[in-house]
Amino acid sequence: MSHNVQSNPAASVNDAEPRAGSASMPVWMLVAVMVLVFGGGLYFDTYGGWFSPQVYAPYRSVNDLMAYQPVSGEGAFLLRGKVVYEQVCALCHGADGNGKPGQAPTFVDSEWVITDNTGRLIRIPLQGLNGPIKVKGVDWNLAMPAMGAALPDADLAAVLSYMRNAWGNKASLITPEEVAAVRAATASRTQPWTAAELEALK
Ligand code: HEC
Repeated sequence: MSHNVQSNPAASVNDAEPRAGSASMPVWMLVAVMVLVFGGGLYFDTYGGWFSPQVYAPYRSVNDLMAYQPVSGEGAFLLRGKVVYEQVCALCHGADGNGKPGQAPTFVDSEWVITDNTGRLIRIPLQGLNGPIKVKGVDWNLAMPAMGAALPDADLAAVLSYMRNAWGNKASLITPEEVAAVRAATASRTQPWTAAELEALK
């Protein structure tokens, strides 16, 4: 099927098949290719994890991957606390711990959260809280159900420990044993606490 146009003297000029010319690549195309190559490199740089065989989607780098590796000890405990917090408490108190107007007070620097009297704090999720309470100088008068009553001791300890060490808070961890002791001591209590009752606790 191939004709050699040039060597066919019978072919008129008009019959000539189109021939690839030597026109140079348009500048815009050159620029487009450069942009694509640069963009691709940038994308690989950001998301590709370079050539590390350890890094796979959806992780973007070794550091990124390490951040999601199972941790042990205190780190795992606080991570568990964060998960429980976001599942059970964040709805009202906010994922950022700042509380929500008309719904629930803040945990950030809250005297009820970073208190040394951990018995007070543990009682709040175990039986709930009702009536007037002052949090960081702001008056609230709502009701919190016993949101932590159904949580195992380890989860309740983890969530309270997380709250005491998130958002700039810094206070001691609460152990599952502490939670178990308070749960046992308050087993007959069915009513939510009032702030006045909690403040009277030694
Ligand atoms: C349904 C909404 C709601 C959920 C969910 C909730 N709370 Fe509350 N929480 C409140 C309200 C409302 C108050 C204030 C109660 C009052 O006015 O007496 C409060 C107050 C508190 C306080 C004391 C005040 C402060 O801000 O420091 C603590 C501590 C607390 N909650 C812990 C928790 C924990 C822990 C969880 C999750 C296990 C949780 N709450 C889930 C509504 C909620």
